[in-house]
Amino acid sequence: MANQQWGGRFAEGPSAIMEQINASVDFDKRLWHQDIKGSLAHSEMLAKMGIISQQDKMTIHEGLARIKTEIENDQFQFSRALEDIHMNIEARLADNIGEAGKRLHTGRSRNDQVATDFRLWVRDNIDAMILSTEHLMLTLAQRAEEYADTAMPGFTHLQSAQPVTFGHHLLAYVEMLSRDKGRLIDARNRLNESPLGAAALAGTSFPIDRQMTAKLLEFDRPMANSLDAVSDRDFALEYLSALSIMAMHLSRMAEEIVIWCSSPFSFIKLSDAYTTGSSIMPQKRNPDAAELVRAKIGRVSGALIGLLTVMKGLPLAYAKDMQEDKEQVFAATDTMMLCLAACSGMIGDLQANKENMRRWAGSGFSTATDLADWLVQKLQMPFRTAHHVTGQIVSLAEQKNLTLDQVSIEDMQKIEPKITQDIFSVLSVEASLASRVSEGGTAPSNVITQAQKWIKILQD
Ligand code: ARG
Repeated sequence: MANQQWGGRFAEGPSAIMEQINASVDFDKRLWHQDIKGSLAHSEMLAKMGIISQQDKMTIHEGLARIKTEIENDQFQFSRALEDIHMNIEARLADNIGEAGKRLHTGRSRNDQVATDFRLWVRDNIDAMILSTEHLMLTLAQRAEEYADTAMPGFTHLQSAQPVTFGHHLLAYVEMLSRDKGRLIDARNRLNESPLGAAALAGTSFPIDRQMTAKLLEFDRPMANSLDAVSDRDFALEYLSALSIMAMHLSRMAEEIVIWCSSPFSFIKLSDAYTTGSSIMPQKRNPDAAELVRAKIGRVSGALIGLLTVMKGLPLAYAKDMQEDKEQVFAATDTMMLCLAACSGMIGDLQANKENMRRWAGSGFSTATDLADWLVQKLQMPFRTAHHVTGQIVSLAEQKNLTLDQVSIEDMQKIEPKITQDIFSVLSVEASLASRVSEGGTAPSNVITQAQKWIKILQD
């Protein structure tokens, strides 16, 4: 049987394979809510402009409300033969309300319809993504306040570098996530123009009011160029880029969780709720959730590259290739929502092993920079010279198997006679931490201020 929606010039229906490759309703049914919203706005405008009657509009609105209820209650029969969500809803409307339903598509094409629906969907999901991001940020900030003065080793090259606080480390991720949120907001602002009314590609001869539909759908304005409106998916790419960068941040955080809870480190313990066991090794507590968050960036950045590759080299305007946009965006969205929730759960529940972190914070001569800074500040030594002198003291400590604050004053004075007892005031982990009061530094006093600043922002 020829297609119900466009079968006028067709004698036969599509082959089963054609239907299989062409149909998108199995996945694009996720646009149903936005599709109905778009149709409500479009028909409202058609009636106001006298293109359809007020009576038809009312009938259409009633019919769409019925379809909404059917879908919500799982009573809607989605049909692959009707290809996509747009034609499923339109066909059902015509079945339900007859003639008026067949007038809905006046002055509209599926090309501007799908672009509108998809922008609305991405916009809605950016809003949800921002909420989940903020939830993770708040969780991190609350844990940072709790661990504001908990010492841990700070690393460069994954080698002990200088002591930092665990709170400071957690807040670093709050900063990253706040930029991720900023990128989502930017993407939202840029996508918020209405393609509706661009029709198939060239606009329409009907006296439509695009300002009105843009306003009804809470877009800032109609898109200026009808070809652009139906043929670009840069908004989806921008969203996927923002998600990919955020996924990279989460992946780094997840990797740190994996390292921190491995038994040689034992910096943290994850809760039972976010740990799995082993079927053979009874002692095991595996951080599977963290490992999976670490890995999921593959899907998200894969979606970005996938859609970039679809769009590359496509001539204007619409081409069916663009139907491949949705699954990438849906999958990346689902993945990121899950990863954000998993990170919030792990971070919210974890317990820091403070004693062990403190012990390792002082290992590896981690206060050597403090020693060098003391030489500069108290003896007016040029920093490069102080670096050299400190290197000699570290080497001596290493030979004698001592930490820096265990080296005797006599031994230090053999290397630099002007060193006084006062040097020991800067060699402890606590002194090192307390001294890092420069803006953005790790001093517990800074960390408390920063954590509380974020908590206040995020709770408002
Ligand atoms: N299902 C299609 C998509 O997602 C809708 C637009 C179809 N337009 C067309 N001219 N065939 O892109």
